[in-house]
Amino acid sequence: MARKNVAAGNWKMNTTISQGIELAQTLTSAERDKNTLVILAVPFTHIFPLQKKIKASSKIQLAAQNCHHKTSGAYTGEISPAMLADMKVPYVVLGHSERREYNHEDNALLAAKLRAALDAGLKVIFCCGEALEIRKAGKHVGHVKTQLIESLFQLDAQEMKSIIIAYEPIWAIGTGETASPAQAQEMHAAIRNMLQKKYGKRVADNTSILYGGSVNGGNAKELFSQADVDGGLVGGASLKGQEFVQIINAF
Ligand code: 13P
Repeated sequence: MARKNVAAGNWKMNTTISQGIELAQTLTSAERDKNTLVILAVPFTHIFPLQKKIKASSKIQLAAQNCHHKTSGAYTGEISPAMLADMKVPYVVLGHSERREYNHEDNALLAAKLRAALDAGLKVIFCCGEALEIRKAGKHVGHVKTQLIESLFQLDAQEMKSIIIAYEPIWAIGTGETASPAQAQEMHAAIRNMLQKKYGKRVADNTSILYGGSVNGGNAKELFSQADVDGGLVGGASLKGQEFVQIINAF
């Protein structure tokens, strides 16, 4: 089993339901390579209406952008992995830098969320990545390694089949500044090497590693052509239908 090419959009806290439906319909009607997996990480409120609009044949999968680490209980305002599984949402994004920063999610909490998500039967897009100071200090690979060790590497090799990794350097998110293809490749190769050391070559070869951070219609092709870059997790450009179609077709 070769690893998949993945074009994932992260809509963050954007779009009304009708805008979301229009956007999704632009994607479902566009020509594209059937070997590319398209995932849309949408607001919780959009999941049900989008499920009704997206045809199973369109091969677009939905993701939630977060979930709690408990199955149920007195956690006002939270959504549990069991609730997402009950809705048949296949994926959840965990570890996004915005949640690490604004919601104080640390590696230990993310380990608990990963455990809960997998126990509920969800697949996870697990995000990692360094801030600018860490890169400037040349400590970016070590930083990402710690994020993986402290959260992801509790999983066994079988469970790793449910994981997509997204490397998102914080300095490139929403800034218009993209990691160069060489910078992305360096980190992706390092991550694959970590996977190989921990789980062996099979898991390393079969895990999709996405790049995120100012991916757009113009730079996607060069980024995705790197040997260890298996696609993108795209914020701003995923909100523009035609541009995201270009990204989907950039493999
Ligand atoms: P941008 O593509 O807007 O930089 O966002 C990247 C991101 O955070 C995707 O999760």
